[in-house]
Amino acid sequence: MQVQSATFDPILIPEEERPQARTRETYPDLVRRLSHQSVVKHFDAYADIAWDSEEFRIDPDDPRWQLPASDPLGATHWYRSQPAAVRSRLGLHYFASLMKIGLQFEGVLKRGLLELAADLPNGSPEFRYAYHEVIEEAQHSLMFQEFVNRTGFDIPGMPKPQQLGSRVVVRFGRTFPELFFMFVLGGEDPIDHMQRSLLQNEIPVHPLLRRIMQIHVTEEARHLCFARNFLKQRVPHLSARRRFLLSVRTPLLLSQMARLMMRPSQQIIRTYAIPKAVVDEAYNRNPEYRAATVEALGKVRNLCGELGLLTSFSKKVWQALGIWAPLEAR
Ligand SMILES: [Fe+2]
Ligand SMILES: [Fe+2]
Repeated sequence: MQVQSATFDPILIPEEERPQARTRETYPDLVRRLSHQSVVKHFDAYADIAWDSEEFRIDPDDPRWQLPASDPLGATHWYRSQPAAVRSRLGLHYFASLMKIGLQFEGVLKRGLLELAADLPNGSPEFRYAYHEVIEEAQHSLMFQEFVNRTGFDIPGMPKPQQLGSRVVVRFGRTFPELFFMFVLGGEDPIDHMQRSLLQNEIPVHPLLRRIMQIHVTEEARHLCFARNFLKQRVPHLSARRRFLLSVRTPLLLSQMARLMMRPSQQIIRTYAIPKAVVDEAYNRNPEYRAATVEALGKVRNLCGELGLLTSFSKKVWQALGIWAPLEAR
């Protein structure tokens, strides 16, 4: 059923789910609770978004697509001195590009979850949860692709080598699920971080983008919780060799993914002829951008610390990649 009005109840942005300390909730009980929430609180990409409403119409000249001054590129003199039409078009192109990369990431995530589920025994609560998450991610991908289509931009998304490389990650769902869930957090955590800060900021956000982000953040609160608790459950039982591999491959994966998700694509750089000096100013030589990347990865880094994956050797890898920061006090 297509909803024709864009009016919607404002959705409170839920915090990430956590095991209930009060009832000393066990891991299987937590997984069952998350599955139950998927039944009572879920969204449909077409029933819950009034795509054809006037309020949600996409106009590339709408100034609400412009990048805010808090964005690394939006803050540059080059961007600010572009005509308004270019600023808004580039902003819209950027959001569409992020959504395309997001849905490609979710494609890998869904396939990996199915690989994981295929090996689970009968009666496993993780099986049901994994399928709920696959269904939710499929709704997200429908919503992201619909947005991309409506912008009119023909967006390739991830560069080809990364698209091919991601096929390896799918297999990890079965062969090395702990590394697979680090990949999941590496994608979901920075997106969630970015969406939460956009929703909490005072900057005007286009209502369609706001609606998509609200839906996404609400369901991701479950996904992030599952990924973290899956890791807490499984990592302590890994062999020394696997622990070592996980400790070193995690920062490599995270830095690659943050780069992919927190910077404009080559297509955008080419289309708007963004000079190299501007890219350097906004990203490569910008301490604020570096700090934002480090911050976006903060939760995964803390989790790695909790799981004993920050050894003196792996810490050097984090540092070499420029994504290290001291652990936050818990
Ligand atoms: Fe998602
Ligand atoms: Fe997710």
